[in-house]
This record gives sequence, C-alpha cells and structure tokens, in this order.
Amino acid sequence: MKKEILKWVSVAALAGFMTPVVQADEAAMAAAGAEIFKRCQACHSEDTSANAFGPNLSGVVGRQAASLPRFAYSEALEKSGIIWNEDNLRKWVADNAKLVPGTRMRHVAITDAAEQDYLIAYLKTL
Ligand code: HEC
Repeated sequence: MKKEILKWVSVAALAGFMTPVVQADEAAMAAAGAEIFKRCQACHSEDTSANAFGPNLSGVVGRQAASLPRFAYSEALEKSGIIWNEDNLRKWVADNAKLVPGTRMRHVAITDAAEQDYLIAYLKTL
C-alpha cells in the first residue's frame, strides 16, 4: 500500500516537473521557427497581421485557404478547398506548387521534417 502511494506521488511529481519542460520546448521550437520564417518575410510581412506581397499569416493554422477578404489570391488557391492544418502546411512548405498547381506563391522547399516542425510551432504563435 505504501509503495502504491509512493508510486502516485512520484508520478505526480514527475508530471509537475515535466510541464514546464514541455512548454520551454514549444517556446524553443517557435523561436527556431522564427528564424526559418525569415525566408518567408520577403513576401509575408514581419507584421504578420498585414497583407504584403503575400497574405497575412496571423491565425493561419486551422484557417481555410484563400479566405482573407482583402487579398487577391490566385484562382488555383481559391479553388483548392484546403484547410491549413499541420499536414497541409507541411506539404505547402515542402512543395507549394505540387500541393496547389498554379499558385502565385514562389516555390519554397522546406523538406526537413524538423524545420517544418519549428515553422509550424512558430505559425501557431501568430
Ligand atoms: C516570393 C513571395 C513569397 C514567399 C517567399 C513566401 N510566400 Fe507564402 N504566399 C505568397 C503569395 C503570393 C501567396 C498567395 C498565393 C496564391 O494566391 O496562390 C502566399 C500564400 C501563402 C499561404 C496561404 C495563406 C492563405 O491565406 O491561404 C501560406 C500558409 C504561406 N504562403 C506560407 C508561407 C511560408 C511559411 C513561407 C516561407 C517558408 C512563404 N509562404 C514564403 C508569397 C510568398
């Protein structure tokens, strides 16, 4: 019985200990993603809530593609029916022209899975 209690205490302690570590991890990933996002900033403004040559990306994770009213999207993206979930964002940054042939966004090729993780962690903060 005592052993059982000890087990629970240590599980709880471990969980309490792990939480900040996980948060720090996400923050570190987002920070790494901010570095990668520099490759996107030529077209997606540093003020990510503003449209530039590319559409603003604030709140893009979970958003319907081509859904901002004040941006002139390509017909291809408008007709894509895509939702920007993590899976589609990975495909987009790996090869956007393959995911949406005819898109106006210049080709990017972020194929490294870790780099994609970082970038998506960063996009989630916008
Ligand atoms: C050379 C300019 C340029 C660069 C560099 C660029 N983009 Fe884009 N991006 C665009 C344009 C233009 C569009 C709109 C495409 C269309 O309408 O077909 C777009 C669209 C998008 C969308 C869809 C947004 C929506 O509202 O549906 C996402 C997501 C996106 N870009 C992410 C990125 C990321 C992440 C990077 C960096 C890895 C990047 N882009 C680099 C110009 C660029």
